[in-house]
Amino acid sequence: MPWPLENNPDTAVFGLLEQERVRQNTGLQLIASENFTSPDVMRATGSVFTNKYSEGYPGKRYYGGNAIVDGVETLAIERVKQLFGAEHANVQPHSGASANMAVYLGLLQPGDTLLGLSLDHGGHLTHGSPVNASGILYNFLSYKVTPGDERIDFQEMRDLALQHRPKMIVAGTTSYPRRLDPEPFKAIADEVGALLMFDIAHLAGLVAGGAHPNPVPFADVVTFTTHKTLRGPRGGCILSKAEHAKAIDKAVFPGSQGGPLEHAIAAKAVAFREALDPSFKVYVHQIVKNASALAAALAKQGFRLVSGGTDNHLMVVDLRPFDADCTGKEAQLILDEAGITLNKNTVPDDPRSPFVTSGVRIGTPSVTTQGMKEPEMVEIAELIAHTLRVRNDPQAVADVRKRVAALCARFPVYPHAF
Ligand SMILES: Cc1ncc(COP(=O)(O)O)c(C=O)c1O
Repeated sequence: MPWPLENNPDTAVFGLLEQERVRQNTGLQLIASENFTSPDVMRATGSVFTNKYSEGYPGKRYYGGNAIVDGVETLAIERVKQLFGAEHANVQPHSGASANMAVYLGLLQPGDTLLGLSLDHGGHLTHGSPVNASGILYNFLSYKVTPGDERIDFQEMRDLALQHRPKMIVAGTTSYPRRLDPEPFKAIADEVGALLMFDIAHLAGLVAGGAHPNPVPFADVVTFTTHKTLRGPRGGCILSKAEHAKAIDKAVFPGSQGGPLEHAIAAKAVAFREALDPSFKVYVHQIVKNASALAAALAKQGFRLVSGGTDNHLMVVDLRPFDADCTGKEAQLILDEAGITLNKNTVPDDPRSPFVTSGVRIGTPSVTTQGMKEPEMVEIAELIAHTLRVRNDPQAVADVRKRVAALCARFPVYPHAF
């Protein structure tokens, strides 16, 4: 039987796909959690592996026909263990959130106490937000950044840990621009006998390429997404000490997921191989250089950088010194009009709500994949500042869009229709 409509392609969906390709090619993609995957990663994602059910793990599947799938999942596991120096890897989590929930399920009991970084100080929803299952099922207490240097307040974390004796300390961030050294987290976890989980969703690529300290030797468990700085397909991954392997695997399947997405796992294997290539080191170091250059250029334009700058791939920009009336929400909207895509973000102790905010978050992984370097970062800072200055003049904003398209045309990422 032919597939229905085989000779009548879905112009609605494929038309939108083409529009999205053009949008990604002609605008500046500055969302810190995004990247451009390689054509090989996309090829594996859109492959026959999507057809296969493979509940279980390599060598222990519920259905037949999995010898080849076992091969691809084993490749992904071995490559990611090599990349991070891990004792155990589970490559099945569908996303970063699923990876985190599986760790809690595997190593904790509902109601257990944990410490996590407060959402409005750079943490993630899955680190105990009251609207997320993590905060509903577990007793998360939040540590914060200091009001002074806006870096993680280890003194407060230690006080909280000594007072509440958490079962687990969660390290890891979603909008924190500074280096996360594993040692102080480990010291506090050891002092109170807590497990240590590191969520390096944002940092995985930087860690893999040696541009950020690797928490794997220190943490009981390390989770991450494969689609941010690591530049793979959308998905999650869990690394752990061998002693936690059984509990983690059980918590992923059958604990919280059904059949794994083997097409995504094949694409993860491709991305891990790319990240093992020496050129990946050069790439991630350039991401960091670009972020520093962009932060310095934005400061020159009159913005305040939360914590004074960045050590990694992202920065949080406080808009208030530049223009007290310009909210993060308005900046996101108007910059989108100009072809500059980023997201509004709270600054520490933001007086505005998370839907309005006083800041924006900016990341350099995507523009670095395109081949942009420090001189382009200076240009981008100028484009951002100019757009916000002329935000009430639609013609001036339209003119910026042309300048953005001209800049992107020099660094085409997906020049041809798929
Ligand atoms: C630190 C952190 N953990 C987990 C996640 C969740 O990842 P996903 O969106 O794949 O569920 C994110 C996503 O931004 C993140 O930044």
